[in-house]
Amino acid sequence: MDELKGLPEATVIHDSSDLEPFLRDESHMVGLPPLAVVKPHGPAALRELVRLAKTEGFGLVPRGAGTGKAGGCLPTPRSVVVDFSQWPGDIRVSPQDLCLSAPASAPLREVKAAAQAQGLFYPPDPNSWESCALGGTLATNAGGPNACKYGMTRHWVLAVDVLLEDGEIHTFGISSVKANAGPALSQLFIGSEGLFGFIVGATLRLIPQPREHTTLLLPVKRWEDLLDLPGRLCGDGYLPSAFEFFDPAVLAELRAHGPETARRLPGEALAILEFDERGSTSEAYLEGLLDLLGPMAEGLEIASDERQRQNIWAVRRMTSVFLKERHPKKVSEDIVVPRSRLREFFEGLDRLGCPAVTYGHLGDGNLHVNLLAAGDTEPALLERQLMDLFRLAVNLGGTLSGEHGIGLAKREAFLALGDPAQIQALRALKQAMDPCGIFNPGKVI
Ligand code: MLT
Ligand code: ZN
Repeated sequence: MDELKGLPEATVIHDSSDLEPFLRDESHMVGLPPLAVVKPHGPAALRELVRLAKTEGFGLVPRGAGTGKAGGCLPTPRSVVVDFSQWPGDIRVSPQDLCLSAPASAPLREVKAAAQAQGLFYPPDPNSWESCALGGTLATNAGGPNACKYGMTRHWVLAVDVLLEDGEIHTFGISSVKANAGPALSQLFIGSEGLFGFIVGATLRLIPQPREHTTLLLPVKRWEDLLDLPGRLCGDGYLPSAFEFFDPAVLAELRAHGPETARRLPGEALAILEFDERGSTSEAYLEGLLDLLGPMAEGLEIASDERQRQNIWAVRRMTSVFLKERHPKKVSEDIVVPRSRLREFFEGLDRLGCPAVTYGHLGDGNLHVNLLAAGDTEPALLERQLMDLFRLAVNLGGTLSGEHGIGLAKREAFLALGDPAQIQALRALKQAMDPCGIFNPGKVI
């Protein structure tokens, strides 16, 4: 695209073989070849890109590290990918203000480490936390195991710097948890997958770093045994910082074909529970937990040191990649149902007769239902199976995505199953904020 040749403050990629890596993210979708990929280094590039997008009629597709699970960063027809990996800026921690500011390009790993170096904690921990970029986690409102105690990315955002359709960068929010001068517009951009503008930086809330962790492997006969546990724990004053689970099929795969540490995992189904409050490694705390678990505690294993804890998490963290290596064409979903409806969900899933295995964030009702045979399933049937799955979650008061977003992968289902009033409101907002439709066209709505 000739118009992009003189773009200031940017690296521009045109060569079709160099465009290839931008056609994919971590979803099962593939994008169309973009007109070009632009890596902006400064605001002048964005200003000019926005101007050109309007005059030449192309779309702008934001990209972070490409670790998304819903195709949100994949190029659509007549689009230019805006890759924020070279966007400048430093990570700055302010212990006094209990916050941190960072550019969209900052690796989440470095953001978390910068906080930790000051004894502070930035909790969001998507599975891709070691490879994803902050900007992508903001655009998709990423979640992870910690969300059952600490909430999603959006709960940690104080302010965002956003490229708007006037071509300029505007800041929404201030570096304080208290800011009530009108609605919190910063939140509009979190999880909106670049529909209203592109996030180039943010100010994030921090809290003191937890200093103790108790990590438990809780083997059970059936996943049903776990269903009332989150409620019972909280009722007794125990709020887990993570409550993960593997169903018998996933656990069997891990044990049979996973790494050495997975081969020793106990149980027919298995929960991983972690507690991180002060005192959680004390004997009194553990005794209280054992009392509460009662007969369930039989077979319980407690990580006795940081190495054992890290081994447990390493298995949990590699589960998605491991299943993908074994079933390269699998489709992995991330539905949510209220915890009180989990039993009905699993019963409904059985009734659907859809060949699925499940693991994930049981503590907050966010389940990774994996259709391992998706690659061998006739496309129309696969689509029906996915729609049935989504409908089941929605009818139980849940939703079709807990942490991965809608992007391209779930757009049709979102439009079919979403509340029409909500979709209309989103479209009205889109029209108001992006009247020329240049920001991530063809995604979400
Ligand atoms: C996970 O929790 O393992 C990921 O969010 C799930 C996935 O990779 O599909
Ligand atoms: Zn997950």
